[in-house]
Amino acid sequence: MSRVVVSARSGSSSPPLASRPAWKALVAHHRDIEGLHLRQLFADDPRRGERFSAEAAGWYVDYSKNRITDETIRLLLELAERRGLRERMAAMFRGDPVNTSEKRAALHTALRARRGERLVVEDTDVVPEVHAVLDRMTVFADQLRSGEWRGHTGQRIRNVVNIGIGGSDLGPVMAFEALRHYSQRDLTLRFVSNVDTTDFFEATRDLDAAQTLFIVCSKTFTTLETLTNVHAARAWSVAQLGEARAVARHFVAVSTNAEAVAQFGIDPALMFGFWDWVGGRYSMDSAIGLSTMIAVRAENFRAMLAGFHAVDEHFQTAPLRQNLPALMGLLAIWNTDFLDAATLAVLPYEQYLKRLPAYLQQLTMESNGKHVTLGGSHVDCATSPIVWGEPGTNGRHSFYQLLHQGTQLVACDFIGFCQGLNPPGRDDDRHDLLIANLFAQTEALAFGKTAAEVRADGTPEALVLHRVFEGNRPSNTLLAERLTPHALGALVALYEHSVFTQGVIWNIDSFDQWGVEFGKVLAQRTLLHLQGVEAPALTHDSSTNTLIRRYRRLRKEAP
Ligand code: F6P
Repeated sequence: MSRVVVSARSGSSSPPLASRPAWKALVAHHRDIEGLHLRQLFADDPRRGERFSAEAAGWYVDYSKNRITDETIRLLLELAERRGLRERMAAMFRGDPVNTSEKRAALHTALRARRGERLVVEDTDVVPEVHAVLDRMTVFADQLRSGEWRGHTGQRIRNVVNIGIGGSDLGPVMAFEALRHYSQRDLTLRFVSNVDTTDFFEATRDLDAAQTLFIVCSKTFTTLETLTNVHAARAWSVAQLGEARAVARHFVAVSTNAEAVAQFGIDPALMFGFWDWVGGRYSMDSAIGLSTMIAVRAENFRAMLAGFHAVDEHFQTAPLRQNLPALMGLLAIWNTDFLDAATLAVLPYEQYLKRLPAYLQQLTMESNGKHVTLGGSHVDCATSPIVWGEPGTNGRHSFYQLLHQGTQLVACDFIGFCQGLNPPGRDDDRHDLLIANLFAQTEALAFGKTAAEVRADGTPEALVLHRVFEGNRPSNTLLAERLTPHALGALVALYEHSVFTQGVIWNIDSFDQWGVEFGKVLAQRTLLHLQGVEAPALTHDSSTNTLIRRYRRLRKEAP
């Protein structure tokens, strides 16, 4: 049943989603096929596994293990057409202000446009600017990797510490971990994001400031956590290097705010810029990826951009029936709104992708965790799924129990590669073991095990129910040859455009993030109270007031 969470507020300019014929047709269709089991669907169609699959940019996606029929896909595609997916896609790629609440373009796709392509936004062709920054990054990354770039004392830089948070951290750290196999091993890369002092302390405790470069990543250069950490980094560097001017060669910035960067004291010549039209969570392929480029070389970074670009082209040109990101987005709508699967588990069977679930959390939930439509009315259906996950096979020994036998339906994306990276070659069968686990999980989730099958194993009657797997649990399998920079770029772009597709269907602004502002403001006010600046009149609720008093008392007793 369609999950209607709140009723539409009166006064909305366009009719609510749930009242649209295309949506109602899906509701009726869902009622018709609700009783069908994947066992039956596969038995009825021996070619189902091939038919419900699509390929793009080196990725093969098998979506046959979703609870769908041909009619489901037809109706979802009809919904996409009716919601104007094609037009909205064209508007985004063209640089229209699709981020309506902030009146901005969302032009991350320009970051991977090929040299020589043209994309004119407000009378300026942005592609040459993008490549000018990439070229500067390349020169700097090469200088650093080769040892030509030296620190204040003349020593070679051996450690690179990225300071940033949200999109200015999650993309760089995810990409570094994902591409670690391709990284220069005598360079140490660390990432500091949390305002918790432990994060900075542990990242730097064994480093020599004379051999350390900080990359300060902040689109706005106003983010409290990042500025707090940069001040700590400067103090740490000055303490080791002896004087303030010594740190000049140890800090570079990546930002859109040149003024604030200069005010902080970073030489504008050491700033790598990007643009308002790049959202934080869509910025790992901008200069925010400087740490990635330093780690893996410009050539690999550009291969990653080519992977993004290949999916951009596919998204724009492939018919919707074969359009991978569109299909992934529509299936997410189906699972979220019609099957009531409130969460999506991202399960990479590749240890290098261990930070992908965290990266996709921000991409998905900050983009589509919204309750207001572009028209300003309340949405009338569930929006973004909650994204979570862990690499396989570790997850199997922790939460897969719930995936198989729990009472909540979880949609799953399994991600794997036909070739492992370590060790290279085909002689080691551990990679086969890994991927056997992946395929087996998708099979078990889809088909389960009936009571009759359990009994046939000779299971004592008292245990039969415990050993039954209902199955019928939806999953996608994303498979590529091997984890290359190109494959990573393509994978991230698949999710970016899937998230965009979902936002179009829900008619929400996938590019703003007002929901994170309120907490920031409250934290500032609470800080004054914690430090007693506005004491003793605590004006919070009784719970927060009591917590603040207790904190103050115990804080004073700190050793
Ligand atoms: O969490 C809110 C947010 O604005 C994210 O969208 C962004 O990625 C992050 O903060 C960091 O912002 P900045 O790069 O401006 O420091």
